[in-house]
Amino acid sequence: MMWNTAATAASRLVRVNLATRPDDDLTTRAGQAQRAATAAREVARLKAEGAQIVFVDVHAEVTSEKIAMGWYLDGQATAVVGTHTHVQTADARVLPNGTAYLTDVGMTGPHDSVIGVVTEAALGRFLNAMPAKFEPATGVARLNAAIVTADPASGRAMAVERVNMSAAEVEALAAASAAATGS
Ligand SMILES: [Fe+2]
Repeated sequence: MMWNTAATAASRLVRVNLATRPDDDLTTRAGQAQRAATAAREVARLKAEGAQIVFVDVHAEVTSEKIAMGWYLDGQATAVVGTHTHVQTADARVLPNGTAYLTDVGMTGPHDSVIGVVTEAALGRFLNAMPAKFEPATGVARLNAAIVTADPASGRAMAVERVNMSAAEVEALAAASAAATGS
């Protein structure tokens, strides 16, 4: 398991990246319990140091592990959002004790691909079981994100919204925003 914590002192917004690695023992309860305990400890430490908003990125393969982590940190972290599987899930919600949750935020990049890899290369390996060089795909991209609305005083999330926009929709939004601000 790897940790990376980024903080901006002025806003007291802290992001925690929790990543599981292939050599982690994903199948045993001991491994999962250890990851959960470490995550809860890190969130508690950051809050004790003055963090108001704690955003946890769970970078993991297994959806059930990410969901369990969301429930476990409900009321402790402001948000628990998953990454790694690249496909946005439709389960954005605020859990009962105020933690925003989404199993996977998705991928910002070219979606005419196999999770970002040139389709032909991925298909070659898929169909022939032969090693193939995985090149990043190019082409028109989609924006995937999650917007969390939170109360800094309590650290609780009030809303979470999935964002899944085409490049054209992003450009239209930018144009509308520029027109509204007169810039
Ligand atoms: Fe990953």
